[in-house]
Amino acid sequence: MKILTVLGARPQFIKAAPVSRVLREAHEELIIHTGQHYDSNMSDIFFDELNIPKPDYYLGVGSGNHGKQTGEMMAKIEEIVLNENPDYLMVYGDTNSTLAGSLVAAKLHVPVIHIEAGLRSFNKKMPEEINRIMTDHVSEYLFSPTDTGVENLKNENITRNVYNIGDVMYDAVLYNQGLAEEKSSVLEDNSLEKKGYHLITIHRAENTDDIEKMNNILDAFAQIEETKVWPIHPRTKHKLSAYGINLDSVPGLKVIDPVGYLDMLTLVSNAKKIVTDSGGVQKEAYFMKVPCVTVREQTEWVETLESEANILVGTDTAKIVKAVNKQVSPEYKDVFGDGKAADKIVEILATREQN
Ligand code: UD1
Ligand code: UDP
Repeated sequence: MKILTVLGARPQFIKAAPVSRVLREAHEELIIHTGQHYDSNMSDIFFDELNIPKPDYYLGVGSGNHGKQTGEMMAKIEEIVLNENPDYLMVYGDTNSTLAGSLVAAKLHVPVIHIEAGLRSFNKKMPEEINRIMTDHVSEYLFSPTDTGVENLKNENITRNVYNIGDVMYDAVLYNQGLAEEKSSVLEDNSLEKKGYHLITIHRAENTDDIEKMNNILDAFAQIEETKVWPIHPRTKHKLSAYGINLDSVPGLKVIDPVGYLDMLTLVSNAKKIVTDSGGVQKEAYFMKVPCVTVREQTEWVETLESEANILVGTDTAKIVKAVNKQVSPEYKDVFGDGKAADKIVEILATREQN
């Protein structure tokens, strides 16, 4: 099999690492990096730490409005698909890079493989929701991480070649958590005690692009007494600076640059609580059994809400503070598979190829 993989954003590098490793044991893979994320701590660091093969094509598209960014990606991906003539084009998740890759391939009749298919927030104001729906509807193989994902697809009449294989992010955590323990000095570097801080990540457009929501969230952080560490996403940093908001005034808050994956796993596993709007971080909190508070109105990861392993609070200040200070006793279940999602994906594709 010859597979062309399209990547562009931080979580996609992490998801691709386990799949590329297994895929390349017996098949050919070429990687296109769209350049959607380009800072070294948003891109290169993951290729280095996770041993992801260097991209064969780097498109350098960079940041921009949705149409321009997606359109530029499409024009460039199309040329490559025409030249390389792959058997499949593989995409991950729900970013503009996902949509660009899947639309190009579908129109050139190259079967699309969507990893992390079937997730829905049912909020079409989110760019991610549009990207997921469009991608799922043009995909030939749909690998979903959960039963909910399979069910969502069924409700949209997509049932052919749909597989729940578990979550590739769980594969990545299992593979890297020992390495993180061995190599990361992020706690010492930032004077953090194990279970003596809350970890924060906020980057979703629905939050960052609304000054009122950001003020509510920051007011909540100011009312939470525990030390808080926040590796800040560049989008959030730029937005706060444009709003003229200075985070120095929030007591007990340590704002740091985005960290690599091994440092992030260390920060997640040793946090007392996690406050986030990230999809990936909600799941990692669950995998590593750290209680999570999600600052969004919906989550695609509904399994995490059971027994308050994850509490969905939106952006109301008082609700955030209450949820973070609440004592919870979550029960964690194997709802994200067994950490062998990548093997299953490659096995299914290889078997289908032979038949
Ligand atoms: C994108 C995805 C989002 C995903 C997130 C993961 C879309 C529509 N959104 O959001 O689903 O959760 O990635 O992190 O695809 N920037 C930099 N340096 C970088 C990258 C971005 O400074 O290396 C800044 C730029 O100001 C840019 C902004 O971040 O305009 C937003 O970047 P973009 O890739 O458009 O969206 P994300 O918010 O990162
Ligand atoms: N992550 C990281 N360093 C950071 C913040 C996040 O390595 O400073 C990792 C995190 O562990 C998870 C992924 O990035 O694996 C999540 O990406 P992000 O929150 O940007 O996007 P989302 O999952 O919401 O699409």
